[in-house]
Amino acid sequence: MIQRYRFLDEKDALPLLERIGDMTPEKHGVDGQVYLIGEYAVVHTNRLKLRNVVFRDDGLVFFDDVIDRLARLYGEGVQAMPILGYCYDPGSADGEGYIIQRRAKGEELYDDALLCRFEEWTQDEEENQPPIGAAVKDYLLERTRFVSDIPQAHFDRFVHDIRAILGREILIDFQGKSNFFYHEAEGFQFIDLNAHVDSFYDAQIERADVDAWTAVGSFVPCHFAPGTEAFAPTALADRAMQAFDEAQRERLAQDNLRIFEKCLTALHRSGVAEGSIETALGRIKIYGQ
Ligand SMILES: Nc1ncnc2c1ncn2[C@@H]1O[C@H](COP(=O)(O)OP(=O)(O)O)[C@@H](O)[C@H]1O
Ligand SMILES: [Mg+2]
Repeated sequence: MIQRYRFLDEKDALPLLERIGDMTPEKHGVDGQVYLIGEYAVVHTNRLKLRNVVFRDDGLVFFDDVIDRLARLYGEGVQAMPILGYCYDPGSADGEGYIIQRRAKGEELYDDALLCRFEEWTQDEEENQPPIGAAVKDYLLERTRFVSDIPQAHFDRFVHDIRAILGREILIDFQGKSNFFYHEAEGFQFIDLNAHVDSFYDAQIERADVDAWTAVGSFVPCHFAPGTEAFAPTALADRAMQAFDEAQRERLAQDNLRIFEKCLTALHRSGVAEGSIETALGRIKIYGQ
């Protein structure tokens, strides 16, 4: 086992790892389990040596660099949850181990475990999915109302932080709404930040256009309509939406438009180039618009 506890003491890290032995994980990520203990989130992974899906990072040189950048951002007040330390088995194929992070406060912006029901409809060409159940329906309606009530100042901060994180060449995974947390006092927070943007690894790829990415990514709190170019896999398929009655669909559309307006206002205030905002608007189709 190699252990690198960069921003926490070994004496604090070890009890966390011991406790995991008798816990059931709170969440299941794509390739591991997540344990939430007090101020900490401990993520088990089998792929610590892989950055950005395909790029190998056997010595974890790039991972260490991500950790340094996150710590600096957090020190500057950006709500990117820092990685405090990790341990792993250097002999394992892709790096099996644990990442200890600061735990985000509040809740996932949207619970992907529930929203995936809509995505299954969108991505299923056979269109033979079971209908959306009552609990999932209620969740979507209630949570969308909740997000639409978040104060504008928190949206402003959200867009500012997206731009700051991307500006340091850290990759934000916008495909999952569960990679963003929200808490009434803390505002939006960012997790699942384990890699740099592609261009960092490959000189062949042009340097990422921070404003272009920020402009598209800032709409992640919205729901999208079929035909959207960005966020296509998550669009709310018409057939899935038949589970809702007319009044519910109308309410969802109205709340979603309020969210969209807040994202757009925040973008205009953020300093992102107007041309990038225009281009992003051409690539998204907002549900209810
Ligand atoms: N730092 C954290 N604070 C709070 N919850 C977390 C944290 N890290 C992970 N989680 C929870 O575990 C889930 C999966 O973790 P994540 O790092 O996003 O893995 P994946 O790459 O599989 O999406 C998250 O959506 C969140 O609910
Ligand atoms: Mg995630």
